[in-house]
Amino acid sequence: MELVVALDLPQHDANLELARKIGRYPLWFKVGFRSYIRDGKALLKALKEINPDAKIFLDLKLYDIPNTMADAAEEIAALGVEMFNVHASAGKAAMQAVMQRLESFEKRPLVLAVTALTSFDDESFRAIYGAPIEQKASAFAVDAFESGLDGVVCSAFESAAIKEATNDRFITLTPGIRPFGEAAGDQTRVADIALAKAQQVDYIVVGRPAYKDPDPAAKVAAILEAIRA
Ligand code: C5P
Repeated sequence: MELVVALDLPQHDANLELARKIGRYPLWFKVGFRSYIRDGKALLKALKEINPDAKIFLDLKLYDIPNTMADAAEEIAALGVEMFNVHASAGKAAMQAVMQRLESFEKRPLVLAVTALTSFDDESFRAIYGAPIEQKASAFAVDAFESGLDGVVCSAFESAAIKEATNDRFITLTPGIRPFGEAAGDQTRVADIALAKAQQVDYIVVGRPAYKDPDPAAKVAAILEAIRA
């Protein structure tokens, strides 16, 4: 299992300070809407300068018509990041268009599909997608698998079922992780490391429990130790 730390802080410098504190550990940096919209390519470059081996997951959750998604995927691959994501609900044609467009890259990023946002509870999810989360998350994962993607973003609770429905090499990446039972915030389906392990999760995403900790480096070290235990 690998650790992905979300760089969701309100200032460029604060993200870089966090990255410097934790950058010596083997982990991924997740750059999402807030940071990418504000700091863009400069942030990606600065992260690679802090740690040339740092792996970057660009969490922009693409959702658009197939041609526009493929165009965006090509631009993202050209940035040299190691992972990005799209929404599975954009459909198989869009996901296939993305994977086809990336064929020309010698080294392409991993591509994951978002199944259900971890902030949904069952009722609010059903109101939009007309089906229970577990059922639809697995169906979206199968769509992504059949479209040639590398894996999905899902809650830790769905990981094992998704691997069962696809195969065990199909990546699961799970936000909503509260490593040692920290406050859930706006996340509804939160899980700790033990649950993520039991669910064969490949990558855990940790945001607030790491960057809001008074000692993020110590927190990251403790998480990595718990992952290896
Ligand atoms: O602070 P916290 O640990 O809840 O951060 C989770 C991170 O994962 C945030 O950056 C959030 O945008 C992201 N994310 C999520 N649920 C998804 C996909 C991404 O919470 N399904």
